[in-house]
Amino acid sequence: MTSPQPGESPQRTDTVAIVGGTGALGFGLATRWAHAGINVRIGSRRPEAAQTAAAALPGASGGENAAVIDGAPVVVVAVPFSAHVETVRSIAKVIQPGQLLIDTTAPMVPARRGLRPITPWSGSAAEQAQDLLPAGVSIVSAMQTVSAATLRDLEQTLDEDVLICGDTAADKAVAATLIERIRGLRAIDCGPLDISGVSERITALLVGVNRRYKTHAGIRLTGLPAPQTCSGLDRPA
Ligand SMILES: NC(=O)c1ccc[n+]([C@@H]2O[C@H](COP(=O)([O-])OP(=O)(O)OC[C@H]3O[C@@H](n4cnc5c(N)ncnc54)[C@H](OP(=O)(O)O)[C@@H]3O)[C@@H](O)[C@H]2O)c1
Repeated sequence: MTSPQPGESPQRTDTVAIVGGTGALGFGLATRWAHAGINVRIGSRRPEAAQTAAAALPGASGGENAAVIDGAPVVVVAVPFSAHVETVRSIAKVIQPGQLLIDTTAPMVPARRGLRPITPWSGSAAEQAQDLLPAGVSIVSAMQTVSAATLRDLEQTLDEDVLICGDTAADKAVAATLIERIRGLRAIDCGPLDISGVSERITALLVGVNRRYKTHAGIRLTGLPAPQTCSGLDRPA
């Protein structure tokens, strides 16, 4: 599903601001979206770094995080979990009701035998964001299982699912439309935001798999009737 659904404003998926857009995942997403014709705004704490990153991509622009968020229908957060509270607090000062935030954060810490998932007090990173953002800002969690390295390399073919959690079907449809502008990604509606902790925990598992098999594995759910993604707006969240 790539085209906007009935009732969904096509403009909502024309432009995306990426907080942490200079980083591995943020720049990987920016690369794919820019090459798919989306207006990408790369955000950073360092405007010059954002501008340098944007210069490498077609039609992209770069600036300080707060500046790129301004007026963007969709804002993606792609920062390490250690910076999540600080970053979301800074976003909360500028984001407006009606804007959609897609949180990609996977809470993990280095442990004796590799990266291990941790559970934030709120239940998940996405719910932590919800607690910190003003009412009226929509939140969807997604992308935790997609490798930044694969996204960044346009020679690599993507063929995997993206788990999406959120409290309204309309918000998930917007996120799904944007995600499926990246060829080879299929968005799967995984339910409300309070299940996001499950997807967020898969990342640490995949990091270990990727290290053992020396690859960039993603995930694929089987048995879904095609096309069966987040695009249906009439289903409950
Ligand atoms: N890497 C992957 O393959 C992957 C896959 C799925 C999900 N994720 C998730 O995506 C998020 C970003 O991961 P990443 O690998 O892209 O991270 P990263 O490259 O280490 O950092 C991303 C960006 O976060 C910004 N940032 C803001 N505050 C920061 C702070 N206090 N310390 C360090 N950086 C800070 C930096 O941008 P500025 O300095 O320009 O502000 C940095 O470029 C994580 O939550 C991760 O779990 C990653």
